[in-house]
Amino acid sequence: MPPQVVILESPTALAIMAAKVISDTIAQAADARGRCTIALAGGSTPRAAYELLARQPELPWGNVHIFWGDERMVPFAHPDSNAHMAAEALLRHVPIPEAQIHRVPTELGDPSSVAATYEATIREVFELGEDRHPTFDLVLLGLGDDAHTASLFPGTAALDEQIRTVVANEVPKLNTWRITLTAPAINAASKIVLMVAGRTKAEAVRSVLRGERDPARYPAQLLAPSESRELWLLDREAAARLG
Ligand code: 6PG
Repeated sequence: MPPQVVILESPTALAIMAAKVISDTIAQAADARGRCTIALAGGSTPRAAYELLARQPELPWGNVHIFWGDERMVPFAHPDSNAHMAAEALLRHVPIPEAQIHRVPTELGDPSSVAATYEATIREVFELGEDRHPTFDLVLLGLGDDAHTASLFPGTAALDEQIRTVVANEVPKLNTWRITLTAPAINAASKIVLMVAGRTKAEAVRSVLRGERDPARYPAQLLAPSESRELWLLDREAAARLG
């Protein structure tokens, strides 16, 4: 199933649409199964959507479990922490039980231990067997100007992982390690939504959606959900090279 692409007039319109998709997903999953599992995106683009969701305390937050699609290897209090951004923009403002906020435990220090512990948490919450990936109700993602998504960066080892749900990924260009869901784990989700804004992303968007197939160079091309739905929310700037 090809990705659905929706082009919004502005970053604000994109945030409004993203917040609606997220709130609809929460309401529908909570109503259908009494639980909604969401992997949040990091970076800066999602912040506006999270802030809009923070104004909806009436959503069934008590049924929501929050995870992250990826995390930087920094403490929670660090300004670069994806969990810190989400806490400031959203999680501190809605009545979601702390026990249902499943941060990547970067305080453990060793990237491989962090990844293994985070994967164990996911398996416990989803009650998964060893050979299964979690079926998140929603995985939110961004896109880098190098076509990375989550922390699946071009030319890095994580791109080839087909078994594990979470890995520690060394990113030489950033001289750091990242913790990330793997492509098969992301693709097992019921719904994948990418939020991409700004002219700097236009070439990456074109390469991923219209360019030659080369996932090593354009990792977001690894997003190939089988039964699930893949939605790209773009502002006009990010969509500028789609024609
Ligand atoms: C991260 C993200 C990463 C992000 C893109 C886009 O931890 O940085 O998960 O994949 O979504 O780099 O980031 P911006 O939204 O800041 O452009």
